[in-house]
Amino acid sequence: MVTPNTEYVIEGGQYATPLGWDWAPMDEYNRSYRGSVTLWKFDRDKGRIDESRSFALELPPYWQDLFDAGKLASEGFIFGNSFNTELATGGVESGAPPFEAGASARDNDYLHVIDLKKAEALFQAGRFERVKGFPVITLQTLIDEGVLYFIPEPKSPHGVDISPNGQYIVVSGKLDPHVTVYDIDKIKQAIADKNWSPDQFGVPVLDFDACMEAQIEVGLGPLHTQFDDKGYAYTSLFLEPAVARWTLGGEYGPLSAEPDWTLVGKVSVHYNVGHIAAAEGDTVSPDGKYLVSMNKWSIDRFFPTGPLLPQNFQLVDIDNVGDSLKLLYDMPIGIGEPHYAQIIKADKLQPWIVYPQVGWSPETQSVVPGAPKAGDERIVRNGNTVEIFMTLVRSHFTPEHVEIRQGDHVIWHLTNIERAQDATHGFAVPAYNINLSLEPGETQTIEFDADTDGAFTFYCSEFCSALHLEMMGYLMVEPSS
Ligand code: CUA
Repeated sequence: MVTPNTEYVIEGGQYATPLGWDWAPMDEYNRSYRGSVTLWKFDRDKGRIDESRSFALELPPYWQDLFDAGKLASEGFIFGNSFNTELATGGVESGAPPFEAGASARDNDYLHVIDLKKAEALFQAGRFERVKGFPVITLQTLIDEGVLYFIPEPKSPHGVDISPNGQYIVVSGKLDPHVTVYDIDKIKQAIADKNWSPDQFGVPVLDFDACMEAQIEVGLGPLHTQFDDKGYAYTSLFLEPAVARWTLGGEYGPLSAEPDWTLVGKVSVHYNVGHIAAAEGDTVSPDGKYLVSMNKWSIDRFFPTGPLLPQNFQLVDIDNVGDSLKLLYDMPIGIGEPHYAQIIKADKLQPWIVYPQVGWSPETQSVVPGAPKAGDERIVRNGNTVEIFMTLVRSHFTPEHVEIRQGDHVIWHLTNIERAQDATHGFAVPAYNINLSLEPGETQTIEFDADTDGAFTFYCSEFCSALHLEMMGYLMVEPSS
């Protein structure tokens, strides 16, 4: 997840290891293994992560899951779940309980509450150590400086989601039929009151009842929560499977007459829903109207075409109040498991239609010096190195004959000089296992050793025009004698 203005990308470490992936025996787990969260600084002007201003926090080896950032009332904090406060180390092959049992033995795990503003100030003040060159603020510093707090949460949670006004932090423990809602003001008060007891690593564990605002029974296997514009929250129920609608409380409570913190509706989905996405549903101004349920199984929904079934996106109408959720549409998704997605208004997208200048590198976001230009195509030999400067435009390559010798080292620069929207060309040299896609204005460079002699074809692999099939050329690799 990202912070509200994309200052940071937050990456939970998931599984504990010795920091830096150093070696340490498993029986030193509590002492030598650590969890972490990394704050990747995002440079909005460059559109790139700035590693030099990024840092990590050392955490107990509790397995930190998804983090989300506070906003408005909770801006400046980040919140994450953990799911192995048991400190289980597995070893089913030696008779130990498997991780799935060991890591879910306790009733509670810990919601991590991290004061990101304080952590950032510590980083900027140089209060960190380096692990394999990367800055890490130690656990002891986080404790001493009041950066890190825990709150008990129902065990084995996955989602932690923040209400649109930033007031409420919503957690779902997968093995508890409730969603648990914490109030940021109560959390701040518990910190101020020192209403805590330390865990075995010395981290303050805030009192659950002092921080908890509500628990709502929503159903079996609650996972992730999204929000709408009517004061409702939506939680995916992995085991039922269904999407539950419930009312928030406080100033963001329901616009209808329903009571606060109450389950009011549910719609069945097929099957094993994971994440859900409501329109702008995790922002400060959700749009409502629609929700997409991202289901991990699609058994019985589509005609089977083999052992690997698609996943299934289901569109749900959430525009009416109360128990009126309607399943509208199924859409199979063929590639991989849909994990997290956001729906945003289309008019927020202002993409480039073509790259700003011809010779553009998508990787560096700038013009490549010496990129091939129209009228300046050429082949340059320097000893055994051959450099090719090639342009692509409907429907030909320039040059079309490339003659080299076996054993040459080839540096091949290509520019798609098109300025028309969507005029993408491909460049395939199957004999050398080369296949590129070049968008309008894009430059790429490939390098290879011409170790196989022969007369080979190269050709465009995007159906770009009526004469697409004619967009080809020959790579002649003369045998070395
Ligand atoms: Cu260019 Cu097909």
